Amino acid sequence: MISVPFVSFREIERELGSELRSAFERVLDNSWYIRGEEDEAFEKAFASYCGTAHCVGCGTGLDAIYLSLKALSIGPGDEVIVPSNTYIATALAVSYCGAVPVFVEPDINTYNIDPERIEVAITNRTKAIIPVHLYGQPADMDPILAIAHDHKLFVVEDAAQAHGALYKGKRVGSFGDAGAFSFYPGKNLGALGDGGAVVSNNEAIARVVKELGNYGSDRKYHHIMKGNNSRLDEIQAAFLSAKLPHLEDMNAERKRIAQRYLSGITNPNITLPIMIDGADPVWHIFAIRHPRRDDLATYLHEQGIQTQIHYPIPIHHQIAYQDLHHKPGEFPIAEEISRTELSLPLFYGLEDAQIDHVIDCLNNFAR
Ligand SMILES: Cc1ncc(COP(=O)(O)O)c(C=O)c1O
Repeated sequence: MISVPFVSFREIERELGSELRSAFERVLDNSWYIRGEEDEAFEKAFASYCGTAHCVGCGTGLDAIYLSLKALSIGPGDEVIVPSNTYIATALAVSYCGAVPVFVEPDINTYNIDPERIEVAITNRTKAIIPVHLYGQPADMDPILAIAHDHKLFVVEDAAQAHGALYKGKRVGSFGDAGAFSFYPGKNLGALGDGGAVVSNNEAIARVVKELGNYGSDRKYHHIMKGNNSRLDEIQAAFLSAKLPHLEDMNAERKRIAQRYLSGITNPNITLPIMIDGADPVWHIFAIRHPRRDDLATYLHEQGIQTQIHYPIPIHHQIAYQDLHHKPGEFPIAEEISRTELSLPLFYGLEDAQIDHVIDCLNNFAR
């Protein structure tokens, strides 16, 4: 039987192994491990890739969102709008600032925040919106930016799952006051450990993010803010610089796999992902829905196919967020997605025979 893992790094390691090894040796030879020329070179290259003036490396994607919000002076008493369907990191970044995450439901077709539901969630405490480009699909930025403009709100994009995705020809991450990226290994652009970055066209925001990530210091041992320690290691920056030139090809391969799924899956009980006009997604996750999702996952597992769920428990049901006192049923669309969503294997190196096996099994599932 053909076996299909949910994710594998094997092909990337095979193709880029020698470049990654020489990146490692370069750092070792330089004998400089934090905030040096590798970090600087990657920041420059990634800013240029995203089409922004600035990029600041940091420790994780969660930190990238948190440091962006801190740089915008978001703190206790403030509210920040986040999608009800996202990874918990989006909300945690708000909580770390002492602010309150206010959940807004996604569009059931796109899974991204529904711009039409944002305005009713705005209060006089709202300071920012965090659109998430979930699953690698760009959020509908035009209406979101218009609402933010009308209500004088900041926009911090959570682009942790969407390196390289385009919205109306522009890279996600470049629309808001800041854009936050994760380089967790499984991301479209992944390091060999944790990493993150903030991109921005605003020099002051980028500078403060950099200072905040370095103990709030503008010069060594001069601390102008109570900052954090959140920096992109030289070794991870070097690995990322080796991988960045291949990102477009790797995303193109993800798009090819997604197209095969889109045209091959014909089971009428399966809901396929829908793209908004002007979007060029990068398919971090290929999310389908099925009313008997758990049975489908079990069946696929029996056929040698690994799947995942993004995400099985919506944030408002998580124990960590009981303090917000949200009730079951309060965010029915997020709850529906968590009940019915299933993520199919999709990674660079997935073979055609494996893709066909997934498609055949999905089409044969009659329940
Ligand atoms: C949507 C989203 N936001 C933020 C993060 C946080 O990134 P990291 O794991 O690098 O902290 C992730 C990734 O895990 C994510 O998927």
